[in-house]
Amino acid sequence: MHTISPDALMAQLNWRYAVKKFDATKKIPDAQWQAIEQAMVLAPSSYGLQPWKFITISNPALRAELQEVSWNQSQIVDASHLVVFAAKKEVTKADVEKYVERIIAVRGGGMTPAISGYRDMMIGSMANPAGVPGGSMTTYTRAQTYIALGFALSAAAMMGIDACPMEGIDAAAYDKALGLSEMGYHAAVVGAFGYRSSEDWLAGLKKVRFEANDLFIRK
Ligand SMILES: Cc1cc2nc3c(=O)[nH]c(=O)nc-3n(C[C@H](O)[C@H](O)[C@H](O)COP(=O)(O)O)c2cc1C
Repeated sequence: MHTISPDALMAQLNWRYAVKKFDATKKIPDAQWQAIEQAMVLAPSSYGLQPWKFITISNPALRAELQEVSWNQSQIVDASHLVVFAAKKEVTKADVEKYVERIIAVRGGGMTPAISGYRDMMIGSMANPAGVPGGSMTTYTRAQTYIALGFALSAAAMMGIDACPMEGIDAAAYDKALGLSEMGYHAAVVGAFGYRSSEDWLAGLKKVRFEANDLFIRK
């Protein structure tokens, strides 16, 4: 196992910031981008059900259309890579079955009593949307997309790639432009990835965080 030192980790997390202006001429090399995509794939989710889609947008015309419904923020068009994190509106029995099939395909060994019990438990949970954490299916799945976003942001930072998490979007307009509603998803949040512009006013500013003692409650 290759691990990184606490110093290396801190250096990268302090280096990263939410980029306001990307250098539109710089593109993320394929190997690095593939690793960022895999970080999203490897993000944890409730039961492992992965109730999300990651929509990567490279079409410039579509980017321009999305910028108009993103407070006109320049990152939408200037970033090397743009990802819309979409949350599944409902998690159904069919989704559970698909996941169970995948478990069996990946791990082998066929259906066991343990997998069958797990399947029944998941089906029971998903059949009662009001009982999921957050009290509704959309709150539950939406929250999980932010974990995938966080994984992608951290992965990018570890490789010296810049990013900006973006919630300043008209999610309904995104749903329409990307045909997400018909697919049973809705746009939750956007991740823009690339390289900071030398003109980004925010790049040189100190990071503002409360003291750890203000944030941690230790019992
Ligand atoms: C969920 C979320 C949504 C955000 N939306 C935007 C956005 O729409 N536009 C933007 O420029 N920054 C956005 N930010 C960036 C935050 O303003 C930034 O992360 C915060 O000020 C902390 O600064 P830092 O990330 O540079 O350390 C968002 C951050 C998060 C976590």
